[in-house]
Amino acid sequence: MKCPHDPFQEQRKAAPIQTCDFQGETVPMILRHADLRAACKDWKTFSSDAPFRVPIPSEEELRRVRQLPIEADPPEQTEWRKIVEPFFKRARAPEVIESVEKLFEEMLDLAFESKSIEIVRDFALPVQSRALTYLLDVPESEGEVWTSWGIHVFKDGEDGEQKGMVLENYLQEKFDAAEKNPGDDFFSALTKVTFQDRPLTRDEMTGFANLAFAGGRDTVIHTIASIFSYFAEHPEALKCLKGEPKRIVAASEEFFRVVTPLTHIGRVCPVTTDVHGHEVKPKGRVSMCWSSANNDETVFDSPEEIRLDRKPNPHVAFGFGAHLCLGAPHARLLVRTLIEKLSERVSSIEIIECEEKIETEQSYERSVGYESLVIAMNQH
Ligand code: HEM
Repeated sequence: MKCPHDPFQEQRKAAPIQTCDFQGETVPMILRHADLRAACKDWKTFSSDAPFRVPIPSEEELRRVRQLPIEADPPEQTEWRKIVEPFFKRARAPEVIESVEKLFEEMLDLAFESKSIEIVRDFALPVQSRALTYLLDVPESEGEVWTSWGIHVFKDGEDGEQKGMVLENYLQEKFDAAEKNPGDDFFSALTKVTFQDRPLTRDEMTGFANLAFAGGRDTVIHTIASIFSYFAEHPEALKCLKGEPKRIVAASEEFFRVVTPLTHIGRVCPVTTDVHGHEVKPKGRVSMCWSSANNDETVFDSPEEIRLDRKPNPHVAFGFGAHLCLGAPHARLLVRTLIEKLSERVSSIEIIECEEKIETEQSYERSVGYESLVIAMNQH
């Protein structure tokens, strides 16, 4: 039986790539850990300088601007990245860590008040939205607005284009306000910074903000829901992790490896390129398949097993190389704090109802979390 998180197993053992049609284009997916890391380093051959085409499927219909810094190559990408790095580093600031701890305490208090809770929309979504306000240094009340946008900022249901406009209009309002009355928040910072000695254009500011909202949303939400589901089936693991910060760090990394909420992401070949025997035409795409690499049996011993003490754990759930996820410290903070608080306060979790989220493509199906997960929790 194929592992639901790893539909690439057989093909990865047989060949370094699997082809899959996405929007009428045949894309080779790089499956093995070493090949994928080499391709990530080789940004001249596998470029990210392709607005809207880095995500697969591409997002021409869903947004108007190029996302930054992801849809660019070094050396410009390195400069773009530096502009927003100070905000992403806030995940290590004591006040942000403290706010995240309080947030999980509060959300668990709320969850204990009712007999059951739907984790995806009523726990993970507000957690993600409110925690992002700490990172971007905006008032926490904004988190309520962001929660109202749903799981994916562009496509929560069938309303992609309309949804994209809600985010777009929101961002323009924030930049207008920041230009009139700048503060220390993320939006204001973007109106003040320079790139190559000039101010950013409004589209560039929007491109940064768009990614800050889209990048860490469903990825964080699906990881949180999957962790609840794991502990429902393994209550003994909660006991083992209680008061054990080092074990919690290792467990977090294993959850990121196993869940790998972002299956893959694209690159574009500027010229005709041979990708392990498959010819990619100029401007054609290649997929960096993080989820397959994270199950590569030549790197991870029994990759299908969830070993919360797995070490080393060189997973690529956050990517590799120049574009290594800027939000990773924030995602790690959230997952570590969730595990810490669950292990302190929860003795067991019961799944009442669940609907898995399945990513369905022409050549694979993959479980990437939950559409909905209703649970009941027992306190210590
Ligand atoms: C479990 C959660 C997350 C996962 C699995 C994840 C995954 C990834 C991956 C695989 C990349 C590399 C893309 C590439 O190589 O083209 C990436 C980049 C990025 N992510 Fe995340 N991400 C997560 C959370 C977040 C969060 C919370 C944020 C923001 C608050 C965020 C913002 C970004 C940004 C800005 C980049 C682009 C970095 C660059 O191009 O230099 N991510 N992420």
